[in-house]
Amino acid sequence: MTPMQSKNLDFEPLTAAHADDLFSILTTPSVLAFIDPDGNPPTIEELRAEYAARASGPVVLTTPSEQWFNMAVRLKAPPSPAIGRLEATGYGEWGEVAYLFGEAWWGKGLAFESMLWWHDYLAAVVPGTEWWATVHPLNQKSIRLLRRLEYEEVDPTKRPTLHSYDPGDCCFVRSAHVAESTI
Ligand SMILES: CC(C)(COP(=O)(O)OP(=O)(O)OC[C@H]1O[C@@H](n2cnc3c(N)ncnc32)[C@H](O)[C@@H]1OP(=O)(O)O)[C@@H](O)C(=O)NCCC(=O)NCCS
Repeated sequence: MTPMQSKNLDFEPLTAAHADDLFSILTTPSVLAFIDPDGNPPTIEELRAEYAARASGPVVLTTPSEQWFNMAVRLKAPPSPAIGRLEATGYGEWGEVAYLFGEAWWGKGLAFESMLWWHDYLAAVVPGTEWWATVHPLNQKSIRLLRRLEYEEVDPTKRPTLHSYDPGDCCFVRSAHVAESTI
């Protein structure tokens, strides 16, 4: 089993209670700039309900093999704040990943460390999955992160039915054969 930690971080299956930790850092304009550009941040009640739904898993399956994975990310160093969250939806041979971190923790390599761990974790629970990510073309931080993680950009017309895709998004894929990390 993958340890629920990396060098600097602890990972916890996401629950509704994490909304209280993450609300103030993940609903800011900078975090939502490319996710909810219309500026419609959730209320704390909506975030609790969203995280509860994420924790329960899909109500209606898009495909019989659909699985949801959601993790809160916490710094090990005291006072051990929650700093972001990771998500993945698996559809059998392929799936989609996404990630959000509070702005105070950007530019420190923590998203990269989290995502290396996430791919190790996912490789253990749903081995052989090809992971996809969609990104707004102006979200350069996210694009740099994906490239560091050995994702390759793919012509959007060649994408599978990515549920996170909005017209104009860049599409990236990380093949199942990319070597797992040693974190
Ligand atoms: C996208 C996002 C996760 C990127 O976070 P990030 O902090 O830039 O990513 P990393 O943790 O990999 O940090 C990388 C940066 O830290 C720097 N860095 C500092 N110390 C580092 C270390 N020890 N190891 C690696 N990188 C380090 C790198 O040089 C790099 O800087 P650069 O972006 O100027 O090239 C973050 O901007 C975010 O949460 N955005 C809001 C939500 C969002 O848009 N999600 C993606 C939707 S597709």
